[in-house]
This record gives sequence, structure tokens and C-alpha cells, in this order.
Amino acid sequence: MTSRSVAPASRLDATLTVPGDKAISHRALIVGSIARGRSYVGNVSPAADVTATAECLRACGVWLRDFADGRVALDGAGPGMSLRTPAVTLDCANSGTTMRLLAGALAGHDCTAELTGDASLRKRPMRRVAAPLTAMGATVRVSPDGTAPLHVEGRSSLRAVDWTPETPSAQVKSLVLLAALSADGVSTVRERIATRDHTERLLRRCGVSVRTDGDVVSITPGAVAPFGMRVPGDISSAAFFLCLGAALPGSRVRMQRVGLNPGRTGVLDALRDMGATVVVEPAAADESAEPEGDVEVRGGALQGTVIAGDLVTRCIDELPVLAVLATQAEGETLIRDAAELRAKESDRISAVVEGLRAFGGVCEAADDGLVVQGPSRLRAARVDARGDHRLAMAFAVAASIAAADSGESVIESADSAAVSYPAFFDDLARAVRSR
Ligand code: S3P
Repeated sequence: MTSRSVAPASRLDATLTVPGDKAISHRALIVGSIARGRSYVGNVSPAADVTATAECLRACGVWLRDFADGRVALDGAGPGMSLRTPAVTLDCANSGTTMRLLAGALAGHDCTAELTGDASLRKRPMRRVAAPLTAMGATVRVSPDGTAPLHVEGRSSLRAVDWTPETPSAQVKSLVLLAALSADGVSTVRERIATRDHTERLLRRCGVSVRTDGDVVSITPGAVAPFGMRVPGDISSAAFFLCLGAALPGSRVRMQRVGLNPGRTGVLDALRDMGATVVVEPAAADESAEPEGDVEVRGGALQGTVIAGDLVTRCIDELPVLAVLATQAEGETLIRDAAELRAKESDRISAVVEGLRAFGGVCEAADDGLVVQGPSRLRAARVDARGDHRLAMAFAVAASIAAADSGESVIESADSAAVSYPAFFDDLARAVRSR
């Protein structure tokens, strides 16, 4: 794995565009593979995770063609008719979304597949995948400790299910919805806290009846029509620049055409709670079923805040960079109800504590989150991103905030950023220069 050096930045004045949303791109490819006919998707994320989804779908017999600029065309043959037994083990690489959503899609087809991934993915919890799919009549086996490799034997005629996941998870909800396309009646998922609804929006767009009542989602199987859409920019990638802008006094950062799905905009609420100026300009509804718009943040005085409950679900992937930002806020920032951070691409609670302390931040781990005291004068450090893309980019933000006289930071396994945002370090360097 390759390390990267990052120098401190004094101020940011930039208008930026980030690549297409990773979560929506996965869904566009998977739903497009199951819809009956040819779908067209624009601005598909170049993330390595999304490439893994595309390759796995191809291995299952899907015709999927990449054009320049993130445009993809793909064919499906309808639920239960689109995916075939692959000749190879499906390699989901680092991508939990690939493994979990694909398991749901495969469960509704008459095929058999093995799914594996890299060392990080093979440590992540997969019983949450096997349990609902088994209840629906598919055969799904995980290893004895509840992790991948996964063995999936699907059936094009599953039983409908009424499922309450133990942990709120958009991935688990989505895999049930995808399998439910091949079920014999209405399936329901009940979440304690509503998670991002990208799958529901896309399926509705394809003509499927998906009803949402608070945190309860019901789906009636039916025809899935092909679709055309442009994926909005990834707010989880934009978050690194927004937090950097908020941390550097006198800065202005404008992110263009980012996704504004309410299940993903918790980072904007957290920034506001910390006292940052956040201006959102929603675009008029366009061909995308997902809301999008421009977001501008200005840097200034910040105070500590509490991030808990449904706000955690709405910014789960942004918590590492929000913890970095909290080192610049006056007082205590408390992140609670976030035990799930330990089950991400790395144990993000212990990794953030280790990384922030190396930069001179004051941070403690809690069972279900983090406590950060600020403000701290960060200084350059050598830190290990543990092969976790969000940590690599969050630590790059810390390195950019570090005192100018402390020199360059070194981020080990920084190339993991490619998992969601291959051009991140180049875009960061350009943004910092552009003022
Ligand atoms: C995702 C959902 C979240 C998130 C992950 C992507 C998705 O995971 O952390 O990066 O695309 O549905 P959980 O569903 O496990 O909370």
C-alpha cells in the first residue's frame, strides 16, 4: 500500500465537483441488471467498490457496457430471470455494499454463487445477510464466525418476509427489498431508525410499488421497468472538503451538484450544529429521482456538539472527518449510538482515536462512539489509515489543518482512498492551490 504526504493548508476558496455517489451507483447497476430491458446511467462513481459490483454482475452474465465519463448501459431480463450462476467466485474486494446487495439480488434467482472479498471485508458481519434471506427460502451460508465467504443458493420464487433488522442498516434493508422482487407477496422491513432510501427511490422509479411509512418499508413484487438517470455527486466525498472549509477560518468551499438525500445530509446538520455557515441551493427536480444541489460552507468559529440517534445514521460514513473537525471546535464533541463504526472497513473508533492523538488532538474512545475535546493545535504526523478509505481522507483533512510550521504529514495506506474516491489526493492538492 502506498503512503501520501499532505502539507498544511492555510485557507480554501474553491468551487469543486466530486464524482458520482457510490451508494446510488451500486444500486443503479444492480437494479439495472434486474430491470427488464436496457437502462442508462450517467455519472457512475469511479470508485473501486463500484467497479467490483460491475465485475461481479458481469460474472453473473449481465451485459454491462462502460462508456467515457461514467456513462454505463446495461441489460436485465426481469426479477428471477437476470442473473446466472457465475463460473468464478465473486470478488467483492473491499465493498460491503457489493457483497450484501448482491447477495439479496442473487437470492431471488435460480443460481448458486460464492462471494468473497479482501481481508477487511472478510472480517465484517454477514449473519445479518444470511438471516433474512434464509427466512425467505434461499440457502445462504456464512463461515462459522459469521463472516464471508458467503455461499448463496437462490430461488426465483421466494417467500415474502416481515423483517426487523437488529441494527438499522440501509444495506440490510436493500438486500431484503432486492430479494423481495422475487417473493410471493408483500415484504416489509421495519427499522428502528430510517436509513438512506436510495433503493426505494430507484425501485419506485422502475414502477415497483414501494410504500414507506416512517421507518417501515413495504414492497409488492411486480415488473421492474428499465430507467435512465444521472447519479448526483457523492456527498460523502464532498464532506472532506466541506469539513476542511469549515475548519480553516476565512475559507469558502462550494460543492456542485451533490446528492441531498435526507438520509445522507446529516453531515450538513452536524456542521450547522457546530456553528459553521452552510448554504444549500437545491436544484429543481430533474431526471434524477434523487434530490441534488450545490452546498457552500464558510469557515469560522466552531463549537462542540452531540452527534447521536438518527443523526448518526444520517452521517455514519462522515463521522471520522467530523471527529477531525471536532478537534477545531471549542469544548466537547460527543459521538454516541455509533457502535456500528467498529464494523466498518476498519474499527473506526480505535483508528480515529489513534490517528487524532498522533496529530495532537484530544480524543477518547467510548463503547458506542468518541469524545473529542477542542480546540487543539494539530501538528503534522505519520498516521496509518489501516487500508480504510474514509480514514485516509479524514487524516488528509487533519494534515491540511495542521500547523503550517509543523511540516508535511505522511498517511500510510493512503491509496485506499480509491475505494470510494480515486482522485481525492489530486483534487485536494488542486483545491488547496486554487485560492
Ligand atoms: C451503505 C450503507 C451504510 C454505509 C455504507 C454504504 C449503503 O452501511 O456505512 O458505506 O450503500 O447502503 P450500513 O447499511 O451497514 O449502515
